[in-house]
Amino acid sequence: MPTISMTVNGNEVSGEVENRTLLVQFLRDSLGLTGTHVGCDTSQCGACTVHVDGLQVKSCTMFAVEAAGADVTSIEGIASPEGELSAVQAAFKEHHGLQCGFCTPGMIMAAESLLKANPKPTEAEIRHHLHGNICRCTGYHNIVKAIYAASGQDVAELMPA
Ligand code: FES
Ligand code: FES
Repeated sequence: MPTISMTVNGNEVSGEVENRTLLVQFLRDSLGLTGTHVGCDTSQCGACTVHVDGLQVKSCTMFAVEAAGADVTSIEGIASPEGELSAVQAAFKEHHGLQCGFCTPGMIMAAESLLKANPKPTEAEIRHHLHGNICRCTGYHNIVKAIYAASGQDVAELMPA
């Protein structure tokens, strides 16, 4: 079995994997980073979203060996080392952007990625960006609201739910 190394949330990690091991399995099963969820395993739900070399990736669609040498960030790497929430995380909390929370790590990772590329997205741009992330609880409105707020824009400008 190949041994791979990568940087995860700023830490150098390595481990033995099978060629078929998915990145999400490596994160969850080998590294114990269970904040990255598996909702479908077929690239539809987005619960497994992480960042690989700065790009938003569904980690159930990537083999762990493909991430060898990469710089990976999972939901556990989003708050500061002291535990201070990111602006997106704080806005999800303030605007009730979650209910059961299963989709939330993937939503946060998608939102962080969007705001990095587009710091002041419109409501339509936020909704478009979330097309790959499924939430079965919230109806999405408060998620959109949270991301809009995290971008520093006034949520009163949004269409009512
Ligand atoms: Fe990866 Fe659903 S678990 S997209
Ligand atoms: Fe339950 Fe989104 S909060 S799936």
